[in-house]
Parts: sequence; structure tokens; C-alpha cells
Amino acid sequence: MLLAEVLDQLQLRPGGIVADGTLGGVGHALAMLSATSPNGFLYGCDRDGAAVEAAQLRLAAFVGRCEVRRGSFAALADWVPAASCEAVLLDLGVSSHQLDTPDRGFSFRHDGPLDMRMDDRQSVTAAALVNELDASALAKLFWEFGDEEQSRKFAAGIVRARQSGPIRTTGELAALIEAMSPRRGRRTHPATKVFQALRIAVNDELAELRRGFDAACAILKPGGRLAVITFHSLEDRLVRRLGRERSAEFEWDASAMRPDWSRPRQPDLRIVTRKAVQPGQAELDANPRARSAQLRVFEKLTLKS
Ligand SMILES: C[S@@+](CC[C@H](N)C(=O)[O-])C[C@H]1O[C@@H](n2cnc3c(N)ncnc32)[C@H](O)[C@@H]1O
Repeated sequence: MLLAEVLDQLQLRPGGIVADGTLGGVGHALAMLSATSPNGFLYGCDRDGAAVEAAQLRLAAFVGRCEVRRGSFAALADWVPAASCEAVLLDLGVSSHQLDTPDRGFSFRHDGPLDMRMDDRQSVTAAALVNELDASALAKLFWEFGDEEQSRKFAAGIVRARQSGPIRTTGELAALIEAMSPRRGRRTHPATKVFQALRIAVNDELAELRRGFDAACAILKPGGRLAVITFHSLEDRLVRRLGRERSAEFEWDASAMRPDWSRPRQPDLRIVTRKAVQPGQAELDANPRARSAQLRVFEKLTLKS
């Protein structure tokens, strides 16, 4: 997604060292390896074990030119040398493969277990949240992570429904929400925001993004570029804010509650994309899922001593 735009913005060159924190189906990773050929190097990770196994096979031809690990992009700085990369990519959200695999429980389009874990080694699933949180915690989750206006109604309906037994599948949850808010010709499914909110909570996506952004900045060398692709406004707002906080445009305020906002600090990023870059019409025609994708790019500054 946004492949040409990412390559254009990252300004890769032969021999460049790059990192992809979200390997997924390795479309971007392959393009980065090819743009840095013949001797560039890619550090890649994904927290999804199945994605990493598939990535290792697909990248087998590049042995010696890449290192692939299973894990979160929040931990990139633990194993990628500091200030070593000319480019880092974080392509957030779920992969098409995750969405299209019913067993993973990400989509209301297929019936499957209410799972939604990107990393199946973690214990909290969407079913645990749906069946164990009380009504006010569920409503808060739908409101904060899904901007869902009917969050209280949906939460109350879920709590009522589970009195007759746990809600176990994506199909059951989608049908329950649809019964409370009939579709009536709307283009998006009424459960879209509830599913988004659950996925963000199960995978702790916003905290991951904060940590991942810092890790990406730590492994970038001065002049290197960070590209982040988001799929919903909550994520995009956070990326914009994280970039701004590290840029010269951030105005510190001695009365701010957060310590890092209340004292001046040396900016270490330049905002490259004033406006987020969006997919062109050809990509939108080929892939309707691309319609909410937004790309933001930042450049690591050379720190003055
Ligand atoms: C949109 S897909 C990436 C697609 C990929 N760029 C490609 O070209 O095929 C997002 C991927 O990021 C992974 N992911 C999401 N959050 C992550 C995190 N915190 N750390 C590592 N991987 C993550 C998901 O498991 C998924 O495979």
C-alpha cells in the first residue's frame, strides 16, 4: 500500500541500511531490498509469528542482506544498532492476510473465534474483553478507541446478551451490534468501530505506536527518514503529534503536566510531509481498503552539540 509513495519519500540508495517494523506480506520489504540492491541491508520484524515464518520464506533469496525477527517494533532499538538506518517504515494495522483468515477473528466479514491477537503468545483476546469487562469499561473502550457514538447502547446490549452465555464468535458479535443498529443502506457495517476498538485494545496499539515511534527515531541516522502509514484518524493524530513533539515546531510550556512537554528540548525530527500523503486513484480503484491509508514522513536531524 502506498508503495511508490513510500519509496519516493524514503529516498533509498544502493547499499542503504533500512528497517521494516511491520513486515506483513513483505511487499514493502521486497521493494526496499530492491531499491538498496546490490548490497543494502534490511532489519525486519513483525509480532505475528505466522507473518514472520512466511516472510522468512519470501525473503530467502536475500540471505546475507536481511535479518528477520519475531517481535514488536517497539523493541527495534534492542537489536538494531543505534543511529544505523537510513530509512524506517511502520505500516500500521492488520495485514490483508490477517483480515482474510477467519481463525484470527479480526473481521466481521467471516465468522471465526473472537480473537484479534496479532501475537498469539499474549493471553488477552477480544472474547475476554467482550465477556469480562463491565458495561462502563466496554462503553469507554468503544468510545475512546472507536469514536463509536452509540458506545453505551452497544455496551449495555452486550452485557445483556452475555447473560445467556458468552459471545464467542465474530459473527455473533457483528449480528448483535447489527440488531441494535440496523444497517439501512449504510456503506459501512455498524460493527466496524466496535471491531476497530477491540483490536486496538487487544493489541495495545496506541502504546505500541508511541514506543515504536521512539524506537524508530533511535535507530535512524541523522538525515534518515521515518515513514508511518496509518489507517484510522486516532492513529494518524497520534503520529502527527509524536512527530510534532520532536520537531522545532513544538512549543514547550512550563505549566504542562507532562515532564517532556514542560521543558525545552532539542528537536531531533523535521516534518517532511506537511499534509499526509494519500493513495492515488489507481490504487483506490484496485484496493478499496486503501481508502483510509495516510502516510506521514519525518527526517532525523543532525543534533547540534
Ligand atoms: C498493514 S500490515 C503490513 C504490510 C506490509 N507492509 C506489506 O508490504 O505487506 C501490518 C503488519 O504489522 C504487524 N504489526 C502491527 N503492530 C505491530 C507491532 N507493534 N510490532 C510489530 N508488528 C506489528 C501486523 O502483524 C501486520 O503483519
